[in-house]
Amino acid sequence: MTLLETRDLTKEFGGLRALDQVNIEIERGELVSLIGPNGAGKSTLINCITGLLEPTRGEITYNGNDLIGLEPYEITQLGVGRSFQTASIFPELTVRENIQVASFTTEHGSFSVNFHRRRDSYGDVQDRTARILDTIELEEEADMEAQDLPYGDKRRLEVAIGLATDPDFMFMDEPTAGMSPAETNMTVNLIRDLLDDWGMTIFLVEHDMDIIFGVSDRIFTLHQGEIIAKGTPDEIRDHPAVREAYLGGEEV
Ligand SMILES: Nc1ncnc2c1ncn2[C@@H]1O[C@H](COP(=O)(O)OP(=O)(O)O)[C@@H](O)[C@H]1O
Ligand SMILES: [Mg+2]
Repeated sequence: MTLLETRDLTKEFGGLRALDQVNIEIERGELVSLIGPNGAGKSTLINCITGLLEPTRGEITYNGNDLIGLEPYEITQLGVGRSFQTASIFPELTVRENIQVASFTTEHGSFSVNFHRRRDSYGDVQDRTARILDTIELEEEADMEAQDLPYGDKRRLEVAIGLATDPDFMFMDEPTAGMSPAETNMTVNLIRDLLDDWGMTIFLVEHDMDIIFGVSDRIFTLHQGEIIAKGTPDEIRDHPAVREAYLGGEEV
């Protein structure tokens, strides 16, 4: 079943067309990756779907809901999460408190509640926090202040804050950027856990082609705001337009 769909999604910044009639469909339970050179429009696509940017034209539907015109928190309440940027971490709160704050803000932070989402009790938040700490492998660091975490742990805490909003669908924008190989491995394991154990649908933007080809069910290629190819990892690896535009004709 199609969970997320865009139709002719277009975003212009002044004279620059950052997204040009983008059509994507994502099925429930899939991991879809988005690749494309710097400036291709990847973050703009995520920002339009999550409500941080207003598209110039086009349609976005999630689970049958029209997302155009909704505020970011309303989109979050429909079950669309994202791995939050470091800026959204409260540095002086502990790891556990950061997750709890995100849980409570989602469930109780606004009056415009979506009635399809259940309201969590305090006990539910505790249970979810424990499960998240286990998944992101930060149980031992749970009582540390977030500002004292090493870089890789901080990035996984961003994922944890995203999970605390109880999403069914998760955007991850370059989750391994700047990580050591060991930190990268932990993040790849985390992505697999989210798919296999949490039943999450994931939309991943990532530069590391080994990760992309290793974890993706399907890959979309964006070039100058246009989707130039969609397919399985094997199809994308052999796709002439992708090689031309992105892989520079190299063997991968
Ligand atoms: N808020 C903005 N205002 C003006 N131009 C922007 C803005 N955000 C992105 N752009 C431009 O849109 C294009 C796509 O950017 P972006 O989505 O960040 O690409 P990517 O994430 O693929 O590297 C780039 O040319 C970028 O400079
Ligand atoms: Mg980007």
